[in-house]
Amino acid sequence: MAAWAEDHFGDAAPVKPVVLEFSMSSRRKPLFQKFAARQQLPLLFRRSLSGLLAVGALLLSLPTESRSADPSAATPADETVWQHAAVAADHPLASQAGVEVLRRGGNVVDAAVAVGFALSVLRPASSGLGGGGFMVIWDAKQQRAIALDYRERAPLAVSREAYAAAADESRKGGLAVGVPGHVRGLCHALEKYGSLPLAEVLKPALRYATQGVPLDDHEVALRKSQAKRAEPDADRFVGLWQQYLFEGNVPPVGTRVTSPQGRALQLIAEHGSDAFYRGEIAAAIVKLVCSRGSEMTLDDLAQMDVVERPVLTSQYSGFDVLTMPPPSSGGVALLETLNILDALEDGKLCIDLNRGRRDEHYYHVLAEVMKHAFADRAEFLGDADFVDVPVKRLTSDSYAEKLADRIQLDRTQPPEAYGRFLPKDDAGTTHFCVIDVAGNAVACTETINTSFGSWLVEPTCGIVLNNEMDDFTTAAGRPNAFGLIQSEANAIAPRKKPLSSMTPTILVKDGKAVFAAGASGGPRIISATLQVLLNMSRFGMTPQQAVRAPRIHHQWLPNTLLLESELMTEFGKPLQEKYGHAVSKSSGLAATQAASRMADGLRAASDPRKHGQAAGF
Ligand code: GLY
Repeated sequence: MAAWAEDHFGDAAPVKPVVLEFSMSSRRKPLFQKFAARQQLPLLFRRSLSGLLAVGALLLSLPTESRSADPSAATPADETVWQHAAVAADHPLASQAGVEVLRRGGNVVDAAVAVGFALSVLRPASSGLGGGGFMVIWDAKQQRAIALDYRERAPLAVSREAYAAAADESRKGGLAVGVPGHVRGLCHALEKYGSLPLAEVLKPALRYATQGVPLDDHEVALRKSQAKRAEPDADRFVGLWQQYLFEGNVPPVGTRVTSPQGRALQLIAEHGSDAFYRGEIAAAIVKLVCSRGSEMTLDDLAQMDVVERPVLTSQYSGFDVLTMPPPSSGGVALLETLNILDALEDGKLCIDLNRGRRDEHYYHVLAEVMKHAFADRAEFLGDADFVDVPVKRLTSDSYAEKLADRIQLDRTQPPEAYGRFLPKDDAGTTHFCVIDVAGNAVACTETINTSFGSWLVEPTCGIVLNNEMDDFTTAAGRPNAFGLIQSEANAIAPRKKPLSSMTPTILVKDGKAVFAAGASGGPRIISATLQVLLNMSRFGMTPQQAVRAPRIHHQWLPNTLLLESELMTEFGKPLQEKYGHAVSKSSGLAATQAASRMADGLRAASDPRKHGQAAGF
């Protein structure tokens, strides 16, 4: 399989290892006051003088197609501009499912729900009925933002000790499985914010499942790689082996394959989410996972619900940023990084993002900003329904200014210089966005964690069950599948949700969505979403340019700066020799989807790293 897909959608082995001479226009301003006051959101007011001065410049600096501050980012000739709506998912047919529903008169939420269900069939290793997710919605008409949390959670009878014994327990098999939230989440979104009947939005997914779809390069590469890994355990994971891995004989690209999930989708279309959470599917899930060590009960499934959370908001570069609060760490980390960049631009940075110069100094500063955010993620973040997460402090200007002061512009520092907490010595995700001409948008990230999740497949309907329990801190100091070291704040507890990195984000200006973005790829979601948003909002790139541009990633620990190959060639040496970073080449860092609404129309892009393709009309 492509090395990149292996890195990001495989059962990732622990990851191996700007002085902004910035114009006032970068400063944020409280465009969002009314909305924030109504929702009692933690609005971050910036320094009022620079904010006021910034207003005029910001309004003038609205991104347009012609504004391409990055000289290397020529407008791709093949970039389509749509006039009504655009959808970006990581499978072309998933994007088309969204457009099909929009053409039938559906709204952006109808489209997102159709995409979410379609992806269960099209990218079964990444997300689906047995997983969970987060959805951020911007409703331009009512000027309201909604954050839906349908993340998986631990069963009521969970025991920490069971996980402390062996690392693999949280990765494969019954103990790996969190109570799925996907079906409840999508049905809730549709019922409350959509406009079409469930059976209608399920049509594309059902058609793909029953009539079959051709396997693309990504699927063939990934399933071959998974088959190689699963072969020694084929008897234990017989559902996966037979229903998704073709018993090791993965057919070539272009082979049309149906999905075993057709029956479940049909039942959901007829009876709603209870078809999944009560009755034969629920019974089959419980029987399977309990035969492999889980204590999940029918009540855990029946009581699974969706939580509507206040959207996390801030201002950046003239946009209102809407993103996901805990149990995602993504939104907090994204705002923390943007705030530090903002503080640096006000003070001592010497990169002018408006001029679009992205050199080794920019990547050094970006890495430093990421190291601070990931160090704080490790210490403070967990499910805020169970532990106190200092969201306000972490996303405040004053905190960002303190961290900005600690950044050395000429040199990176050892891990103890970031955060307070040092651990003791002792791609299975998907993102999609929908945007329309009226300024409504959905950014949605869904997951079953690593490729094919727990490798357990519910036998009656072929539902791939997640391994989200590995996103918890399973034992002190033990890294998870993505190499993340986390604290007690993210310890396993009954009904608690494991900390996520998913960062579905919408940027709003003058009450209308301008950009939507997010990513898949574990902790690299946060750094990739940050870079795509900066590419669009600060470097004037189109979504296609923004998602294609090479990326970096630093997650504090391991203390290694990952660079995609183009950046390694160009900046690897100076970042290592001049700034002191331990650098390592990565074949691909996350898969991002993005969409934008510009003066001349709508654009959307799916990451070529995962063979997606956007659609619109
Ligand atoms: N399972 C990936 C995440 O939620 O961060």
